[in-house]
Amino acid sequence: MNALSKKINFHDFQPELESFRDAVLEGLSRNPKQIPPKFFYDKTGSKLFEAILEQPEYYIPNIERALIQQHADEFAELIEPGAVLIEPGSGSCEKVQLLLERVLPAAYVPMDISGDFLQQAACDLGQQFPWLPIYAACLDFTQKMILPKGVPSGRRVVFFPGSSLGNFDPLEVQHFLAGIHRLVGKGGGLLIGVDRKKDHTTLDAAYNDAAGITADFNLNLLSRINNELEGNFERNQFEHYAYYNDPLGRIEMHLVSLQDQQVTISGQDFSFTEGEFMHTENSYKYSPDEFIHLANAGGFKHQKIWSDNNDFFSIYFLEAY
Ligand code: TRP
Repeated sequence: MNALSKKINFHDFQPELESFRDAVLEGLSRNPKQIPPKFFYDKTGSKLFEAILEQPEYYIPNIERALIQQHADEFAELIEPGAVLIEPGSGSCEKVQLLLERVLPAAYVPMDISGDFLQQAACDLGQQFPWLPIYAACLDFTQKMILPKGVPSGRRVVFFPGSSLGNFDPLEVQHFLAGIHRLVGKGGGLLIGVDRKKDHTTLDAAYNDAAGITADFNLNLLSRINNELEGNFERNQFEHYAYYNDPLGRIEMHLVSLQDQQVTISGQDFSFTEGEFMHTENSYKYSPDEFIHLANAGGFKHQKIWSDNNDFFSIYFLEAY
């Protein structure tokens, strides 16, 4: 082991041994059919997701990056020196890089469901920040968040950018916030990016990019089922569909069947009618009042909020009480 690799610890908590098959068979037996969004992120899905983040219609990354750059010193002060920074759903670990030199955390704990992707991202990060102890945890953060052995003491602060919170329904939000609360303990922190309600045209366009990357990302779920669960979906017989559901305050993503058809997965048959929707993801949009209300109910008090000039997106710092 060289000096560099000693700083990177990889812990595989084996997030999805049987769960993918169970979830798909169960979700497709429901009416309406659905598949939980965490299964988007196989290696191809994680790569496609990185490409979504580059699409011009998808406004979140640029706004969030600008906010982080602009306010990094303030974030660092609130996070406090010597904290352990934990990022559920860390993906390519790109955004945290804007914070590390300012915060100088005692350690960084990226958590991701996609093991290969996580390992690669942790290694790349370790090269760039050789002073930083990294404890990468391959796990499903919607199930149980565990800190790997050896993580140093210091205030626990969770970093949850990208409005991933929007992908939970309100009940799951409570569950997630409770999990974060357990993880950081009283006095711990949460730095979180949350997308806001805005005009429908902007929202609809963000999830229907002209290059069709979000469509590919959505349809990749079918390829993954074919590859890993002996499925026989015909990808070109389904279509990506995303729209803003105003009464529910959320973008909904679906895959729509283009004809009456039968699909077999792991030996089980499923019928689709022409025009039938399979629900694959939600992305809730919250006003600051709505979000702060949720956070309070989850045991967090809000300390500060930052927003862009258009009020498209906000970052909050919250403390667990
Ligand atoms: N949480 C972000 C959002 O809802 C990112 C995201 C998750 C996303 N799944 C997506 C973006 C699917 C586009 C398509 O915006």
